[in-house]
Amino acid sequence: MRLAKFLAGAGVASRRAAEELVRAGRVTIDRVAVTDPARDVEPGVTVALDGRPVEAQPPRVVYALNKPAGVVSTARDPQRRPTVVSLVPDEARLYPVGRLDIDTTGLILLTNDGELAHRLTHPRFEVEKVYRALVANPPVRDRALRQLRAGVQLEEGRTAPAGVRRLRPDTLELTLREGRKRQAKRMCEAVGHPVRRLERIRFGALELGSLRPGEARRLSASEVQALTRVPAV
Ligand code: URA
Repeated sequence: MRLAKFLAGAGVASRRAAEELVRAGRVTIDRVAVTDPARDVEPGVTVALDGRPVEAQPPRVVYALNKPAGVVSTARDPQRRPTVVSLVPDEARLYPVGRLDIDTTGLILLTNDGELAHRLTHPRFEVEKVYRALVANPPVRDRALRQLRAGVQLEEGRTAPAGVRRLRPDTLELTLREGRKRQAKRMCEAVGHPVRRLERIRFGALELGSLRPGEARRLSASEVQALTRVPAV
């Protein structure tokens, strides 16, 4: 890997600024000053800036997991229940992107990139999450659909307009852009249809697809890129 890219990847500076640091003679490889930003950094060498070693950042990894019921969405659980992290075969320190309730199944992402996790969960970015909900007291009538779409009053305030489709008399598909606690369940309950089963089937551009419960797969670079692309309105 080129030296400037290595420095930028380690969070030292932007690629351009890292090139300047190298040209200024402030960077060494194995204690020897290097002024060519394109110099190759081989595995095992020590790169230092102003005499202080620079740690290489592990590459970004993002996994999609089909979370089964009974698994918690935290990295560690004091009650020692199975966690989403324990279902992903990776050495990297991963943590979940947002949460699903313990009884909610479906698509959850895990990553070692805090910046990406923030970008995907902060309400400001309005990333769409799509849920399929099996509800009580069918059939769900048009009035309830209209209420859900317009926004329902929850304890902490009104929900933003949501996408809602009735797939069957007892099954709804909800598209939410907020990430309030137990939001889908509280919304359905507020219109008289408590949720019996909830599954997340899409997160941003990424579909749950054919992942089986408990199965995880690493996303490709282009899938990760698509995650942060703003959807066309
Ligand atoms: N909404 C809920 O009510 N529960 C979840 O797990 C996710 C969204």
